[in-house]
Amino acid sequence: MSDKLKRVAIIGSGNWGSTIAKIVGNNIKKFGTFENEIKMYVYEEMIDGKKLTDIINQEHENKKYLPGHKLPDNVVACADVAESAKDADILLIVLPHQFIERTCSTMKDQIKRTAFAVSFSKGFYVNKDKKVELISAVINRQLDIPCYVLMGANIANEVAAGTFCEATVGSRNYEHAQLIKGLIQTDEFRIVIKPDTEVIEVLGALKNIVAVAAGFSDGLGFGDNTKAAVIRLGLKEMVKFCEEFFPGHHPQIFLESCGVADLVTTCYGGRNRRVAEAFVKTGKDIKTLEEEMLNGQKLQGPDAAAEVMEWLKSKGQTNKFPLFSAVHDICERRLEPKLLLEALRHHPEYW
Ligand SMILES: NC(=O)c1ccc[n+]([C@@H]2O[C@H](COP(=O)([O-])OP(=O)(O)OC[C@H]3O[C@@H](n4cnc5c(N)ncnc54)[C@H](O)[C@@H]3O)[C@@H](O)[C@H]2O)c1
Repeated sequence: MSDKLKRVAIIGSGNWGSTIAKIVGNNIKKFGTFENEIKMYVYEEMIDGKKLTDIINQEHENKKYLPGHKLPDNVVACADVAESAKDADILLIVLPHQFIERTCSTMKDQIKRTAFAVSFSKGFYVNKDKKVELISAVINRQLDIPCYVLMGANIANEVAAGTFCEATVGSRNYEHAQLIKGLIQTDEFRIVIKPDTEVIEVLGALKNIVAVAAGFSDGLGFGDNTKAAVIRLGLKEMVKFCEEFFPGHHPQIFLESCGVADLVTTCYGGRNRRVAEAFVKTGKDIKTLEEEMLNGQKLQGPDAAAEVMEWLKSKGQTNKFPLFSAVHDICERRLEPKLLLEALRHHPEYW
């Protein structure tokens, strides 16, 4: 690789995108091993009569998605995604997965041939023919550059506040993985590199489905033992999915931050759990609750359940994943939330 300083762009500026901008901006200032300025693509919106990009560039704070945290002044908000990505050597893609395909297609003509991307997005992509793809594969297909992943037990507000946590970077390219680690690791945010890219990404998407089940369990008032059973059975389905469709990974991968740790944090702390609990308690539908409770943030679990069901249907394997199926059916109101218990009671684990 050349000695010229590498340029970094951040595509996305939600709760996690802004947190990553805070970390990466500070690291770049501290170490001086990358170009100082980082363009951050912001999906433009008006907040109290002001453009969000202007608020970020003048006040150095994303008042909507990460209020209360200053962003370093080398992070420059830009509403034009192609302009943000132009000349970047490293693209950190932190968009809700629903927007990846369209956003990548807008910036693909500006991508440096030697660049690489890192996806932080959790979910799957289903095209109009119902074909399911990994998000990293969509990025790779659209931008024609390698795409690695970062997944882990990371609730953005806690990471932004600097409490200790860890994440897993999935990359089979040693040199690129070291660059990613150098950009993102801090004393409080520790990075472990593993060469199991696809499975790491899949775990990040699947755990949100289990978090929805955990939220249903909380909403139904089932208590800690039941929730632990939900988490364990959910983990078994996550492992089974990986074994069935992504064979060849290292079994210890489930013990990394992207595995059991992310599952635990999301079943206790995340937005998917919270909205699922409210779904049971209020009887409102998921879209309404997303709008009422999340102030523009996006839910991932219910969509991930629908995407996984498409995947399983195409393989004729829906019956092997009763917890995932029940979550999808409950979100779609084809099943009463209390019937989650039936999926647990009759789980193949007990056959
Ligand atoms: N927030 C977390 O704690 C966290 C932690 C780890 C991973 N993640 C993952 O990171 C990804 C990004 O989540 P987030 O928390 O940064 O976002 P978010 O849910 O906080 O915010 C939604 C973002 O989507 C943008 N947006 C809305 N409509 C859009 C459109 N049409 N096109 C492009 N962008 C649009 C909004 O401007 C906003 O930046 C998700 O896949 C999520 O699962 C989130």
